[in-house]
Amino acid sequence: MHNPLIALQDITAGYGATHILQGLSLSIAQGERVAVLGRNGVGKTTLLSTIMGLTQVHCGTLTLAGRDLAGLSIYQRARMGLGLVAQTRDIFPSLSVEENLLAGQRRGVSLAQAYVLFPRLQERRRNQGGQLSGGEQQMLAIARTLMAAPDILLLDEPLEGLAPVLCAQLMAVLAELAQDGTRTILLVEQNTGPALRFASRVVILDQGRIVYDGAAAALRASPDILHRHLGVAPKDQD
Ligand SMILES: Nc1ncnc2c1ncn2[C@@H]1O[C@H](COP(=O)(O)OP(=O)(O)OP(=O)(O)O)[C@@H](O)[C@H]1O
Ligand SMILES: [Mg+2]
Repeated sequence: MHNPLIALQDITAGYGATHILQGLSLSIAQGERVAVLGRNGVGKTTLLSTIMGLTQVHCGTLTLAGRDLAGLSIYQRARMGLGLVAQTRDIFPSLSVEENLLAGQRRGVSLAQAYVLFPRLQERRRNQGGQLSGGEQQMLAIARTLMAAPDILLLDEPLEGLAPVLCAQLMAVLAELAQDGTRTILLVEQNTGPALRFASRVVILDQGRIVYDGAAAALRASPDILHRHLGVAPKDQD
């Protein structure tokens, strides 16, 4: 790939001495919408954590726009345009919705912009984060990350535990964020249907390695590939 935005080359990384990612190489161009799929425990979260600088990298290189990220903190990476919505939905439970959003704010992104994307958060802006429903907390976690105007959005299973109607709403927000084609999005998901409809490219992980990397359209046309790598029947895709 010519001048990738993010490039992992032969990355072996984990927690302490453990090796979870096993010599993983992945290049992503600006504006790509990549779905990262894989069974539980294969290293999806570890991949996003490694890009953010939250794991131990044992060997390999990781660059962002050509710059080596080794040794850079999560804050420095955030300033370079990376934004993570963690699987644990880390919001501040005792702060109000509005305070949570302002805590994530950078570069003059306004609260109004967040509320246009998530009107529900505006209705609940004075409620404490801990009083929100699971779906509302997920909206808040995404909105707070967006308050830093990240060029690269890393989302870790944002649909986990959400009712279908809320999944559809969140995917619509993601589609809107991706619309102008400048933002790069890595979406880790186990809901393969919405992920495949959203993504332009799909990467499947297994035991810390990439076992499939190809166009989302190819997977939509050949559900047997999903079945082989994920063990899901085509009918489970929605
Ligand atoms: N903080 C940690 N310390 C030690 N081992 C960890 C830690 N986090 C994850 N692991 C291990 O790393 C492996 C990969 O975990 P990871 O969370 O990346 O998987 P995942 O693909 O995101 O799974 P899931 O779909 O369940 O979220 C697992 O074996 C897990 O037990
Ligand atoms: Mg995970």
